[in-house]
Amino acid sequence: MSTDIQPENNPVDRQSPGELIRLENVTKRFGTNTVLDRLDFSVQAGKHVTLIGPSGSGKTTILRLLMTLTEPDEGIITVEGQQLFPAPEKQVREIRKQIGMVFQQFNLFPNMSALRNITEAPVTVLGMSRDEAEARARELLDLVGLADKCDARPSQLSGGQQQRVAIARALAMRPKVLLLDEVTSALDPELVAGVLDVLRDIARTTDITMLCVTHEMNFARDISDQVLMFDSGRIIESGPPEQIFSEPAKDRTREFLSAVL
Ligand SMILES: Nc1ncnc2c1ncn2[C@@H]1O[C@H](COP(=O)(O)OP(=O)(O)OP(=O)(O)O)[C@@H](O)[C@H]1O
Ligand SMILES: [Mg+2]
Repeated sequence: MSTDIQPENNPVDRQSPGELIRLENVTKRFGTNTVLDRLDFSVQAGKHVTLIGPSGSGKTTILRLLMTLTEPDEGIITVEGQQLFPAPEKQVREIRKQIGMVFQQFNLFPNMSALRNITEAPVTVLGMSRDEAEARARELLDLVGLADKCDARPSQLSGGQQQRVAIARALAMRPKVLLLDEVTSALDPELVAGVLDVLRDIARTTDITMLCVTHEMNFARDISDQVLMFDSGRIIESGPPEQIFSEPAKDRTREFLSAVL
């Protein structure tokens, strides 16, 4: 970081205690389509925040911004007080190490065993020894109920099993933040519960901060500290799950919930 930066401009000093993620006035456009419109919100360390809202309201775009898969047009995004855009390459890499993401479509490496899928990034990115990475991968496979599937390739696993490997793979990097984007929506209905149980366990037993996009409202109600309701790139209401699901303040939220519940 350059030394001529003034304290009031230093993102570290903008951070309130316990705050892990902060979006300030973030706008994202694709052409003339404004998909995030001057968005402000922050997430405290260890909290579980669920993003709900209609298709196209910008939920995935927020997770992609945090993964630095896309850039904002305006506004400031910080993780642990460190600004993401613009930022030196090294700072972006350091921030990215703190964040794990699980996608709707698993995205496992098809030519690698479950175990190798999990050990690859710790070895290549974190420089962990292969032995240590494998020991940790076996623990994680056990945690997600797949201790017997170490050697299986993705094509030999069910969708639910593949998604549990993908969750283990994200956890292997010991992220502070886990981003989950509709991780059960590509699964056959009977496989959904197993994956949600694994996530409930992680929410209950770890201090990982979770940002979760889901249409599974019972799950959201169980794990969330806060629910953010999106519409057209803005948060139209937010609050604890009991309030959002039982007494939403906005008609739009009520309408959305009656369509998905
Ligand atoms: N790469 C892109 N190029 C152009 N437009 C995009 C791109 N990615 C997203 N969009 C648009 O941005 C808007 C928000 O998309 P986003 O994927 O964030 O929505 P979402 O809330 O996750 O929706 P869903 O619930 O259907 O997943 C949509 O109008 C989408 O068409
Ligand atoms: Mg989406």
